[in-house]
Amino acid sequence: MALREIKLYQQDEVLRKKSKVVDEINDKILQLLDDMLETMYHANGVGLAAPQVGILKRIVVIDVGDGPIELINPEIVDSKGEQEEVEGCLSIPGLSGKVKRPQWVKVRALNRKGEKIELEGTDLLAIALCHEIDHLDGVLYIDKVIPGTLEG
Ligand code: CO
Repeated sequence: MALREIKLYQQDEVLRKKSKVVDEINDKILQLLDDMLETMYHANGVGLAAPQVGILKRIVVIDVGDGPIELINPEIVDSKGEQEEVEGCLSIPGLSGKVKRPQWVKVRALNRKGEKIELEGTDLLAIALCHEIDHLDGVLYIDKVIPGTLEG
């Protein structure tokens, strides 16, 4: 395992690019998953997407306090409700702002064994899933922030 460098929004345009679908889960991908989790925990984050470590692949890791979640090629397939909570991003240090997100989402993805999985998240997990999956399309929370709520 190794720490990866977290790319910063102000310094790296990789965060604005669209990530590619993972078509083969090989040792390099498994290493990346391990490294992303280690990097996320080290930075005290609740989520990290591969573009944040400079890799344009559709991979995210999340831990909202219930243990690590690893998602390959995740897609939001259903959502319900609304919530407005303050978000930040490891790639945009020192800033935070309120974003409107669904209260509940259902996500389909692959796990590290290449098995299809389905995951439901409410509250903070729903936010983390939306925030991290947005990263895979080059979308940042500051694009969606409720005007006047950005602080830092
Ligand atoms: Co982020």
